[in-house]
Amino acid sequence: MRDRGLRYDLSHPTAWRRFPASSHGDSGLNVENRFLPRCPVNVLGINAVFHDPAAAVVVDGITVAAAEEERFSRRKHGKTPVPFSTWELPERAIAWCLREAGLQASDLDAVAYSYDPDLAPEPGPDIAAGEWEGLRTLYARRAPLFLSSILPGVAPDKFHWVAHHVAHAASAHFAAGLDPCSVLVLDGRGERASHLAGRAVGGSLEVLAAQELPHSLGLLYEELTAHLGFRRSSDEYKVMAMASYGRPAYLEALRKLVRTDARGGFVVEPLDFGAFAPPLAAGAEFTPAHADLASSVQCRVEEIVIELATWLHEQTGDRDLVMAGGVALNCVANSRLWREGPFDNIWVQPAAGDAGTAYGAALHVAHALGDSVEPMRTAALGPGWDDDELERWLRVAQIDFERPDDVAEEVARALADNCVVAWFQGRSEFGPRALGHRSLIADPRDPENLEKLNDIKGREQFRPVAPMVLAERAADIFEGPLPSPYMLFTHRVRDGWAERIPTVVHVDGTARVQTVDRATEPLVARMLERFEALTGVPVVVNTSLNTAGRPMVDDPRDALECFGSAPVDLLAIGPFVVRRAGLTRVPAAAPARMAA
Ligand SMILES: [Fe+2]
Repeated sequence: MRDRGLRYDLSHPTAWRRFPASSHGDSGLNVENRFLPRCPVNVLGINAVFHDPAAAVVVDGITVAAAEEERFSRRKHGKTPVPFSTWELPERAIAWCLREAGLQASDLDAVAYSYDPDLAPEPGPDIAAGEWEGLRTLYARRAPLFLSSILPGVAPDKFHWVAHHVAHAASAHFAAGLDPCSVLVLDGRGERASHLAGRAVGGSLEVLAAQELPHSLGLLYEELTAHLGFRRSSDEYKVMAMASYGRPAYLEALRKLVRTDARGGFVVEPLDFGAFAPPLAAGAEFTPAHADLASSVQCRVEEIVIELATWLHEQTGDRDLVMAGGVALNCVANSRLWREGPFDNIWVQPAAGDAGTAYGAALHVAHALGDSVEPMRTAALGPGWDDDELERWLRVAQIDFERPDDVAEEVARALADNCVVAWFQGRSEFGPRALGHRSLIADPRDPENLEKLNDIKGREQFRPVAPMVLAERAADIFEGPLPSPYMLFTHRVRDGWAERIPTVVHVDGTARVQTVDRATEPLVARMLERFEALTGVPVVVNTSLNTAGRPMVDDPRDALECFGSAPVDLLAIGPFVVRRAGLTRVPAAAPARMAA
């Protein structure tokens, strides 16, 4: 290892972490940066413990690559979040991130792993006890060994375990670039907690409260997701969409069972959802009682989030709040917090789920090792291809394609003709949202496009699709926190516009907006501008480019496969376009046969 002028012994993997008691008991999460500035470092971040395994590489404090394993393995959410899968590392994502950064394993100065087994339940003599929780701890502790099998050359002393919620917190406060700021993390669970409330100043995090398990807003929402016939740890956003169809009829009962305490934490009593609505089988039609249950839990979660934020604001007095953790993907709750909560400004990490902890852990360790960490400028941190590579892919596929003078103009015309377009441009997005790089786009003026898009994606018809809008036009059409580049808030559609863009208006009169800034997304902005010139509407429908049950499209082969298997009219891939008819051409020559 090069001499970086270390002031502190890093031989112990958690030497850079210290844990003073918090106001909510000894959370074991407080962090102090105890190092002096030194040379920049190369840090690999890994999330591997629960779901959404991912990797990120930070070089000189700048995030050069971040990607989820599912985009490479084509296995949605990467793996099943059971203790037996904890050993699995996101090896394809790791390999790609290193390649993108131009690094070998031996170039890494640190590996940051977003779970600290020292904070997790110790394995007892019966490894099966507690639903194999001890096995999870054992596997997390052995992560350096698993890593050495896929990435030889990383010395064990470069491995750092980062507390799960500290990694979530870092993914928000470093990425937001707001200093100081209050930090709120809410998810299903980490090592022992499901929540962190704190304050970040100068890159150091002071933890003010951390709610221990089994109390968890994320797990509450997961349980409801499973009760309503959906996939837990995956389909929570379907529950959020369903909630709009109901009334919070059971809110009073839930207020007794789910409540905050006076110390910044909360209680979730055991809940029997069957007392409100019977369990739904997968694919079954929901009843008004199910919608009311979804609405009630959604409403109670919103109230709790506001109360937790209010407590946090009373401790810090900050203007800015940053958020991460899977609950922070609840854009309805985020918007209500923005409207009714005490903070002037709320920034939410777009990869707020566990994938984002790979990124956060890497930022945290980079900062601890003395790097000045750059805020997040874009979520487009995944793989991309240049024009020549894309053309090679199209020629290999032996389909007709064109290179129009301006792909943005060509697509705008197709949209104005009510075509559905697969839009594959630049680097793929890190996180669950399509933000104009791997998107299905359509005309928002035709209400039938909602059903058409939900059919293409094999989604339930009650689910909404979202608008993207030129940033400078957003306030004319939508209310709420703007700009909103990452689709993490819902916005009421202004009077007079709901009728003009019916495809993107949810049943409750809101839309989950992505604002498009010309400086950061010039191609998408130009497409929107041209669409407005043709139609008078600076909005298009934007939903993720994938078909039923599949992860988002990532590489050109995925794009061609998706385009070939779904009734999409046009594929805009880099500067090229492929029309539906181009798929049916018979290849000019059969592949050569091998000589016998
Ligand atoms: Fe998490």
